[in-house]
Amino acid sequence: MNASSKHNKTQVDKRFGKHSQTTHVRKNPTKNKIQENPPKAYINGVQDFYGREFIVTPDVLIPRPETEQLVDMVLSLAGKSILPGIKPNRKQLPDQPTILDVGTGSGCIAITLKKELPDATIYASDVSAKALKIAQKNAKKLSAPIHTIISYLLDDVKFTPDIITANLPYVDKNWEWLDKESLGYEPSMALYADECGLALIKELIIQSSNRMVQYLFLESDPCQHEAVVKHAKINNYEIINRTGYILGFKYQESK
Ligand SMILES: C[S@@+](CC[C@H](N)C(=O)[O-])C[C@H]1O[C@@H](n2cnc3c(N)ncnc32)[C@H](O)[C@@H]1O
Repeated sequence: MNASSKHNKTQVDKRFGKHSQTTHVRKNPTKNKIQENPPKAYINGVQDFYGREFIVTPDVLIPRPETEQLVDMVLSLAGKSILPGIKPNRKQLPDQPTILDVGTGSGCIAITLKKELPDATIYASDVSAKALKIAQKNAKKLSAPIHTIISYLLDDVKFTPDIITANLPYVDKNWEWLDKESLGYEPSMALYADECGLALIKELIIQSSNRMVQYLFLESDPCQHEAVVKHAKINNYEIINRTGYILGFKYQESK
């Protein structure tokens, strides 16, 4: 990890440091800390994302506000953007794009895209069957018809989407500023990855490139962006947009 800047540490503190949604209950020294301070979202069973309420359980990551910018970056490509800081582009997508959200968890990205781009065909995949059940519940609750697939990255995906979105695990267990106590409530398989947190993102880039997927939108920590952009470039992806935690790429045919 390139942990050189204070700036990066501050950003990570916000994202994966002390959990901002932790409830403050009186400490009982006889109880395990982890049972004392569950995040509010797990107590209430819901979390807002992009103006909609999603069901969350300890089987899924609690959707974070930073991830809303991933949705907005996709919308900007369709000539539509709502959040500040992201300019709508000229429309670049087909009218009825096929979008696959890899590592969908609660389904927050996939379902929001379906609500905002009703003509798109949306697939949501995850390696966790329990997570997919929550995504399906959310799709029903929010009347967003999406297709779910259980798959390790693209291994069991039998088609080539126009766009892949992914907020895969990218936390490196060795980041010394991590608040492991607070993160202990969320599934480890939703958080941690090997190779300085980049193992899954790098593998997804290679798999996407092999299928010439045209657009990739990936979330990772800003301290990892340089490495992600470099890896994407050697796999034929040029960066087209970046903001906060999100990078957008377009596939370039090799000359
Ligand atoms: C960081 S969470 C993101 C959840 C949701 N997309 C969001 O933004 O809130 C990562 C998700 O990736 C899933 N995942 C982990 N390894 C995976 C793999 N190899 N293939 C597919 N999904 C994976 C986890 O189960 C988890 O649901």
